[in-house]
Amino acid sequence: MPLGLFDSGFGGLTVYRKVREQLPAYDMLYLGDTARTPYGNRSFEAILRFTTEGVEHLFAQGCPLVVIACNTASAKALRTIQQKLLPVKYLDRRVLGIIRPSAEALAQEAPESRVALWATEGTVRSESYALELEKLAPHIRLTQVACPLLVPLVENGELAGAGLEYFLEQYWRETLERAGGVPDALLLACTHYPLLYPAIRRLVPASTKILVQADLVAPALTDYLTRHADFDKRLTRGESERFLTTDQTESFAKLASLFLGRNIVAEQVEL
Ligand code: DGL
Repeated sequence: MPLGLFDSGFGGLTVYRKVREQLPAYDMLYLGDTARTPYGNRSFEAILRFTTEGVEHLFAQGCPLVVIACNTASAKALRTIQQKLLPVKYLDRRVLGIIRPSAEALAQEAPESRVALWATEGTVRSESYALELEKLAPHIRLTQVACPLLVPLVENGELAGAGLEYFLEQYWRETLERAGGVPDALLLACTHYPLLYPAIRRLVPASTKILVQADLVAPALTDYLTRHADFDKRLTRGESERFLTTDQTESFAKLASLFLGRNIVAEQVEL
């Protein structure tokens, strides 16, 4: 009965890494839909279908609880899965996303704060963060900037250098223009972006706090398990980990080592 993490591909591994650090005893199962990644520019219908298939696969493997460790999939599919799939087919399972805990962290920013977030087009277009923040912290002035080129850059190992800097500068300029000044905080609302943290930190003034999502999601999950002892009890503690991919295992393992900072073995599955 492992804890399941689902992602469109590799980005969720940044969340996996932090959750593993915080909950090392738990058996964990990661599924990356690398055959169909990226989700960032896809339609609502496609993302809902792919995410549902991924979550159901993890359920079939025995996961009582699945975290959708992808902003795009959390934005587009989580609510429908929670409201339409679970009550009908999986009354005893739970699915969590990563937008709510991230929005809760943003909501802690001081009144009158200017907050910016960088994400995929799908996440920005969904307005999920804006809607959550309207409820949680209407005082926050939010600027959302879609950064479609950052995921391909990360996946090609471009974590530093002139090419990357050119695009980061463009996105930062757009952020400054649209926010009307330097934001107080910048949320990296895409699971790939933490790999670009050093380059982003060099570019963004020290007065802007950069929030890395895995640092927000892992404690929120730990807190969830403390508050839901019934689910926590069902998760087994054998310290095992398995990584499933819907495409070639070799390329998954290679890129996964970049995200995790260590080597892993991957298994191929069909959804
Ligand atoms: N993992 C996705 C996210 O956090 C980005 C990659 C994709 O577009 O599939 O939004």
